[in-house]
Amino acid sequence: MLVITTNSNLKTFLNSLSKNENLGLVPTMGALHKGHLSLVEKAKKENHLVMVSIFVNPTQFNNKEDLEKYPSTLEKDIALLKTISDKIVVFAPSVNEIYQNKVVTKKYNFKGLDTVMEGEFRDDHFNGVGTIVELLLNLIKPTNAYFGEKDFQQLQIIKKLIEIKNIPVSIIGCPIVREPHGLAMSSRNERLSKQTRIEASFIYETLKTAKEKFGTKSALKVKDWVTKTFHNNDTFELEYIEISNIKTLKPVKRKQTGEKYRAFIAVYADNVRLIDNIALN
Ligand code: PAF
Repeated sequence: MLVITTNSNLKTFLNSLSKNENLGLVPTMGALHKGHLSLVEKAKKENHLVMVSIFVNPTQFNNKEDLEKYPSTLEKDIALLKTISDKIVVFAPSVNEIYQNKVVTKKYNFKGLDTVMEGEFRDDHFNGVGTIVELLLNLIKPTNAYFGEKDFQQLQIIKKLIEIKNIPVSIIGCPIVREPHGLAMSSRNERLSKQTRIEASFIYETLKTAKEKFGTKSALKVKDWVTKTFHNNDTFELEYIEISNIKTLKPVKRKQTGEKYRAFIAVYADNVRLIDNIALN
């Protein structure tokens, strides 16, 4: 399996590709799990060649401890990718290679998509995501780039990024992959105790009931119910529950026919921050 670690080797490799070959990029921060692999499988079906970038991006971490604790498992990641195909190309650069010794976060105007939910609780996070995704897309110039819907807000912001920066790529959102008990797959799940990981089905079960309730009740009533449900649980601490329009990500006040909504949630358990979301209609 080809593992590229420098920009100049990346350039040489990309120059060797024929112009009519589609390249699918799956950007990741490593610690790969079945959620990532589902993106890679989809990219493999839809492109001649798949590249997986593995880069723990410092500019998107608002919490230093979170960055330090982020798992780095390159060998294991490569072995997992090989189970899909050894023709996948890995791009795993260092921080200096990517940021050329100047780690600077660019500022974007994401038209309000970045000021709610994750943006409200993680200062500058989406500017950091924008910075690295713009960099990777400009370096690699893929035909298609794949992102998971677990980070639905991120997905919408990346769609906005390519619109405002005029980057010629198709952004493809892929459904959330869940553990057998219902917890959305995430590299952070490894940090949960075995017991909490099983009990975390509570998050998805609550979201599913919220979806049911949203059929007949107002967004406010559903949010209140979720808040109370978490209040009565000792293992999971609710950071936020929001019900938003999927295009604007603005909290819904009154449901409008023809509009699509999602419930978004962030929860702490065992000192680990977990996010999830569900389509409501
Ligand atoms: O979703 C992620 O893993 C990261 O935010 C991304 C898109 C790879 C950028 O670092």
